[in-house]
Parts: sequence; structure tokens; C-alpha cells
Amino acid sequence: MRLDSLSTLNYRNLAPCTLAFPAGVTGVFGENGAGKTNLLEAAYLALTGLTDVSRLEQLVQQGETEAYVRADLESGGSLSVQEVGLGRGRRQLKLDGVRVRTGDLPRGSAVWIRPEDSEMVFGSPSGRRAFLDSLLSRLSARYAEQLSRYERTVSQRNAALRGGEEWAMHVWDESLVRLGTEIMLFRRRALVRLNELAAEANAALGSRKTLTLSLTESTTPETYAQDMGSRRAEELARGSTATGPHRDDLLLTLGDFPASEYASRGEGRTVALALRRAELELLAERFGERPVLLVDDFSAELDPVRRSFLLELAASVPQAIVTGTERAPGAALTLRAQSGRFTPEAGPDLPEPELPEPELAEAELADVPDVAGVGA
Ligand SMILES: Nc1ncnc2c1ncn2[C@@H]1O[C@H](COP(=O)(O)OP(=O)(O)O)[C@@H](O)[C@H]1O
Ligand SMILES: [Mg+2]
Repeated sequence: MRLDSLSTLNYRNLAPCTLAFPAGVTGVFGENGAGKTNLLEAAYLALTGLTDVSRLEQLVQQGETEAYVRADLESGGSLSVQEVGLGRGRRQLKLDGVRVRTGDLPRGSAVWIRPEDSEMVFGSPSGRRAFLDSLLSRLSARYAEQLSRYERTVSQRNAALRGGEEWAMHVWDESLVRLGTEIMLFRRRALVRLNELAAEANAALGSRKTLTLSLTESTTPETYAQDMGSRRAEELARGSTATGPHRDDLLLTLGDFPASEYASRGEGRTVALALRRAELELLAERFGERPVLLVDDFSAELDPVRRSFLLELAASVPQAIVTGTERAPGAALTLRAQSGRFTPEAGPDLPEPELPEPELAEAELADVPDVAGVGA
């Protein structure tokens, strides 16, 4: 997968622009607040259609009402144009000029690594569930569909619980068990490979403790209906659904202990990075093409092992954009970020372009007027 160019209009603090990206690594460097993260966020949105939908308003430049991003992509030899329009809290997607939904866009096009990824390890179960659900939704359109049906059903059931509609519960329970079971079984299957890849990446990051991914489930496919029934009174009292995959956690075990409670900050960052590499490898396996890698603030990573792991990962994909307060080494293109603008510069790793020697014959030279005489 390759991002040939990215265009943005009224996106956060970015000046309207079209930036062309070469194959290999593009390094984006500049001070804090220059717009580096915003650029990656715009690129991720244009590549995948994905963004935090609860914050759509924030993506539009202050003082404007609409924003727009566009990615010109190259995948398996064919070109496509993906556009995202944002306005009035809504998001509109187009693929080659035709209105589409997120699931219609190529699902393995990008992976975004950020310093905040540590929150997946140390934060609440919802962050880990979001990681898992987002990844599985990209691996399988069916999963994405069933998950959104399931989530809708949970909120409708919660409303019925709050309304004390005990008589209607068996209807909700039935569809919840059906959808929830499918989600649980899919998660279990996908976790086998995800676990292998994450453990491999964690070891490649030099960790001497084994990383194991498993699910903490609030119920099982076998006991689902029964478990739900046994918590009916509690559910009616609280007005919320107590069992099912929306309550499950992706347990990250490092050595013998849960990473969320026992890992050091550094170990946690390593685990988060291992999860991101596993995500990248799983998407590559599923779609037969390596995603575009977006690495935000590699220079915030002070640990030399993790830093070189990040840079090596960036070099392992056909294309990566790597931001930082310093220049990324080995970049094919370096952009300097300043107040939402991005200007190419010849990086220290690029040889100065060699200008061909002028090959002028003696006679021609004789015809060139003396420079000193020009304009005199
Ligand atoms: N909707 C918006 N309109 C205008 N400016 C915004 C908007 N959202 C964020 N910004 C500005 O973008 C800047 C942050 O850019 P960011 O990409 O996070 O910088 P960095 O280069 O440090 O990653 C901040 O100065 C912030 O005020
Ligand atoms: Mg930033």
C-alpha cells in the first residue's frame, strides 16, 4: 500500500496543502504544536476513514464549518482516490468519487503508532477492547457488522432495563446471545495468531518476559443465556447489561503478571509497541500487502532498543511517515513542520544533488558576454 499524496483543507491547524510522499520513509520534524500529529491523524483518516467519531467537531479548523482530506493511493498496481468530508458532526466518505461507508474502504491500509499507545496497557479494559475490536473489524467485515449490531442491541436492551420492561427481556436476550456468541468465538479464533505475533514482537524488542494475550470473558458461549438470566435482578437495578463481550477484557500477561498492574512504564511501552507490530503483521497477512506505517513522535522514545525497533519497522514497510522533534535517520524525504505547513528539505542523509558540469564549447563561451559587463 502506498500513499502517493495527501491533501487537506481546514483540517485542524494544517494549512491547505497537497503533499506528495515517496516510497520509503518520510521524516517530518518540527517543534511542538507545529502540526505533526495532526498531519498523521489526517493521513490515517484519509487512508482508513477511521477517527474518534466523538470528536469530529475538533477536527475542523476553528472558525470554519467543514474540513476535507483526500488520499491518492496505490495498491496492487491500481490507483484510487479516497476522500473524507467533515462538517456538522458528520463524516462523509468517498471512494473514487462514489459515496461509501467505512467498511467499503480498503481495510488494511494503515497502522498508526503513537506515544499514547501505552494507555492500551495501563488504561481501562475499554481501550484494549477498542484495540481488539478495531483490528478484528478490519480483518473481517462480518465481525464489524455483527459488532455494531451487538452494540446497538446492548443499548436498546439497557433502555428497556431502565424502563423496567422485564416482560420484553427474552426478546433482547435472544438476539444478544446470538450476536455475542459469534463475537466471542471470532475473538477467540483471532487471538491465536495475534498472540503469536505479539509474543514474537515482544521478544524481538528484547523483553526477557513472555507476553501472552488472552481474553477475560464475562461469560462463555455455553453458559451465556444462563449467566444473563442469573443477573437479571442486578441488571434491572442498574439499568445496564452485565454479561457479554462488551464487558470482556484483553488480558496482557507479562511473565507471570498482568501488565496493566505490574509492568514498569518501559515494559508497558514495549508491550504496546509489540501489539502495534502484531496489528501490522496481521493486516499484512490478511490482505497480502503491507500497510502504510504512521509513527508519531519517534523522538519521544528515549529507549535505544525501542527507538531502533520503530525505525526498523518503518524501514520494513513500502512506505512510512515518521514524525519527531528531530529528523528521522534514513529518510527518503524530510519535511520541516512549522505552524501547520510542511516544507521539503534535503535531509542530512541525502547526498547533495549532483549538478551536471556545463559542457560548453570554447567557441560558445566566447559568445557569452562578460558577467561584469552585464547591466553595467
Ligand atoms: N480544530 C483546530 N483548529 C485550529 N487549530 C487546531 C485545531 N485542533 C488543534 N489545533 C492546533 O494544532 C496544534 C497541535 O498540533 P499537533 O499536530 O498536535 O502538534 P505537534 O507537531 O506537536 O504534533 C495546537 O497548536 C492546536 O491548538
Ligand atoms: Mg504531536
